[in-house]
Amino acid sequence: MDNFLNVALPKGRLGEKVYKMFEKSGFECPEVLADTRKLIFENKEKKIRFFWVKPSDAAIYVERGAADIGVAGKDILLEYEPDVYELLDLNIGKCDMCVAAKKDFFDGRQKTLIVATKFSNCAKRHYSAKGRDIDIIHLNGSIEIAPILGLSDVIVDIVETGTTLKENNLEVVEKIFPVSARLIANKASFKFKTAMIENIVKHLEVKND
Ligand code: PRP
Repeated sequence: MDNFLNVALPKGRLGEKVYKMFEKSGFECPEVLADTRKLIFENKEKKIRFFWVKPSDAAIYVERGAADIGVAGKDILLEYEPDVYELLDLNIGKCDMCVAAKKDFFDGRQKTLIVATKFSNCAKRHYSAKGRDIDIIHLNGSIEIAPILGLSDVIVDIVETGTTLKENNLEVVEKIFPVSARLIANKASFKFKTAMIENIVKHLEVKND
């Protein structure tokens, strides 16, 4: 291992925002935003290396130490409970984990509730706290389609603008928890690269609402 700090960025718009926060804090690597299929970028002088990963995988890279730090949504952290340190709420990528259903849906609690979701553990915890029996149908995307096709009664999913629900005639039944992007660190890296990680935490400018 070299003495670079390895940073897992979630691919996409959120990751670009995160990179710009790093850039503003003095940890720049402009090639990161270039129109290229490359996934790994480094600034040799600042000893920092960024790589793009699928957003839901960022926590795995950090937990396993392939990345020293990274950015993951609170939704992913609550779903997979990776063994990492959560250092900072970046106050971006904000949305809510919600239960949603067709507009005319009413839960009479007569039968097991069928829940379609990418977030099976979050859904199980939510309904177990309410003492409600559920069957989970684990899907990998386009969750909103499930109640429309009669595959499930409700969905548990993140809602950002609400557009996807609206355009599919669904509505929020209840909010479960708020979500935002978090800076996370590998536990061993935090011990051995403390100065550099703390320097980043100190310089990242988190905007308040
Ligand atoms: C997410 C989420 C919702 C949508 C919510 O989907 O699963 O479908 O965004 O955003 P909105 O409230 O602004 O409409 P994503 O784009 O990750 O696609 P996928 O779930 O189909 O993978």
